[in-house]
Amino acid sequence: MAPRLANPADIPSIMAVERVPGHDAYINLWTAEQHAAALAGPDHAYLIAEDAGGEPAGFAILSDRRDPHGNLCLKRIAMAAPGRGLGAPFLRAVTAWAFRHSPAHRLWLYVVATNERARHVYRAQGFAEEGTLREARLNADGTRTALVLMSLLRAEWDAQAPS
Ligand SMILES: CC(C)(COP(=O)(O)OP(=O)(O)OC[C@H]1O[C@@H](n2cnc3c(N)ncnc32)[C@H](O)[C@@H]1OP(=O)(O)O)[C@@H](O)C(=O)NCCC(=O)NCCS
Repeated sequence: MAPRLANPADIPSIMAVERVPGHDAYINLWTAEQHAAALAGPDHAYLIAEDAGGEPAGFAILSDRRDPHGNLCLKRIAMAAPGRGLGAPFLRAVTAWAFRHSPAHRLWLYVVATNERARHVYRAQGFAEEGTLREARLNADGTRTALVLMSLLRAEWDAQAPS
């Protein structure tokens, strides 16, 4: 799956995927204005997953593209219909895009500790769990959940990437 770069016309479908019921437990939801500003700026890259018919199937946002220490953040990834085998190859493609289109040394992310599916997908692709941020996420109902910090180093990606 080769992701394509998003353009402003993709914002409504990105927002629709963010708002799939249940996703809000695991990802933050942005307004159209927040997306438009991030998409237009130099610090973010938006990638779109397309299904076999060429329709948007999910999105990913990379941030911190100008971090002087080479820490690129996978800020958000979400699929319109999770659990159908599209998200794992999309993550692999996003990771490849990230390391091929930036000098990043380390691709990192936070994942909600109870998000077992996402943690499984990240681990399966070589992301290491670096630690737990206790009670770091404030949920809509006022409860708090831990976040797990994960990362993949360029050398680790190089070692697994097809030549
Ligand atoms: C995380 C996400 C992008 C993954 O995409 P996806 O299309 O669901 O992933 P896939 O269907 O390709 O693969 C899911 C994998 O998780 C496994 N899985 C499913 N439910 C699981 C669970 N409860 N615990 C552990 N593993 C689980 C599946 O078996 C599969 O692994 P396998 O290929 O080794 O068998 C997607 O689920 C999503 O959009 N979730 C909501 C938003 C979100 O959580 N984003 C991540 C924020 S950090």
